[in-house]
Amino acid sequence: MEAELNNALAELRGLLLDDAGSFVSAVAAGRRKGQDAPAPTKLRPVTVKGRELLQLETADGAGPTVRNVEPGEAAAVVDELLARPYGNWHVVTTDRTVAVRITKRGKAFVHRTDEGGQRVTAHDRVKSHLLAPDDPLFAAVGADAAKRRQVDRFLTLVDGKLGEVAAPLHVVDFGCGNAYLTFAAYKYLSGVRALDVTVTGVEIREEQRVHNNAVADKLGYAGGMHFVADTAADASLPDTDVVLALHACDTATDEAIARGVELGAAHIFAAPCCHHDIAEQLKRVKAPAPYRSLVADGILRERFADTLTDALRALLLRSLGYEVEVSEFIASQHTPRNSMIWARPAQTPAALRTAARLDYDALVEQWGLRPKLAELLDAG
Ligand SMILES: C[S@@+](CC[C@H](N)C(=O)[O-])C[C@H]1O[C@@H](n2cnc3c(N)ncnc32)[C@H](O)[C@@H]1O
Repeated sequence: MEAELNNALAELRGLLLDDAGSFVSAVAAGRRKGQDAPAPTKLRPVTVKGRELLQLETADGAGPTVRNVEPGEAAAVVDELLARPYGNWHVVTTDRTVAVRITKRGKAFVHRTDEGGQRVTAHDRVKSHLLAPDDPLFAAVGADAAKRRQVDRFLTLVDGKLGEVAAPLHVVDFGCGNAYLTFAAYKYLSGVRALDVTVTGVEIREEQRVHNNAVADKLGYAGGMHFVADTAADASLPDTDVVLALHACDTATDEAIARGVELGAAHIFAAPCCHHDIAEQLKRVKAPAPYRSLVADGILRERFADTLTDALRALLLRSLGYEVEVSEFIASQHTPRNSMIWARPAQTPAALRTAARLDYDALVEQWGLRPKLAELLDAG
């Protein structure tokens, strides 16, 4: 078993230090059972003042630290990294990808594909991506630049929150549409993170299910992912670890969140779309004094509905004991629908749950609202 692991690490060493200039990028992450987790590290070649260096980006604690390594030191640095107890290595060269997953018993599983990447060494390429925008996957699913960016930012947030996860993992993407996020999540988690993952895409439109399953077949992913045509509320699903919803229309986001709660998901990531439900209710209600001006004009009412809907969603989840963060997952110039609700079950003190519930009750009573999420969670 040890010889097998040594062979796998020797293969990675050869790819990382290849003299022919074919190395594109690498990620070392995860940990081996019973060992401390080494800081995740990304590697790539960079050209600085005409000299090619090896760049290491290490995510340790406060944020990423970047270090450029001289060619003479590269072998020693790579050897030191390979000696660390990472659970996963993912190395891309110009003509192949090699992923190594090391099990808790120290057995190395090596997965090789002849899918290479594009070598970009310009030092000014400062933006890091989980999946390169030119990853062939995006062309296969037909995602434009804006969607690629959204998907990458969404997955970056997912990656950070997931941290170390116990495989196998079942991920559901609700309201998946063309499934840009669904495919990218599968490729990232099963490929780059080398996790034992299955992904289900749920989409109300049957023709989209047929199309997405055909794309999964074409990409060779059908063994690990599939699509069902149903509403997020009604789809029949097994136990689920991670719920994703990127711009699931209106109350489909509520359905996704409620299913995440019902299925016992360890993480819910929902980037909401339009908020028609509460916006429509705000048209009809008598606003409490002195807040009438918040809903008198259409645009203000719409924006207020966005904020109020997500605030009520967060309060409901907190009242159920969830840890919740509402943040921006991407800058607003890329999409105006750029907020993200992340939630995970937590042992929050009863006083915090009660406070959230009281705030929720006061808001819905003052505004005369019936949020969809409360109905779905039977928490009205
Ligand atoms: C705005 S698109 C977003 C698609 C995809 N997540 C993306 O980001 O590209 C919303 C998708 O949700 C689907 N949808 C709407 N209501 C739904 C529901 N209740 N359950 C499941 N899917 C739904 C729509 O058909 C549409 O494909």
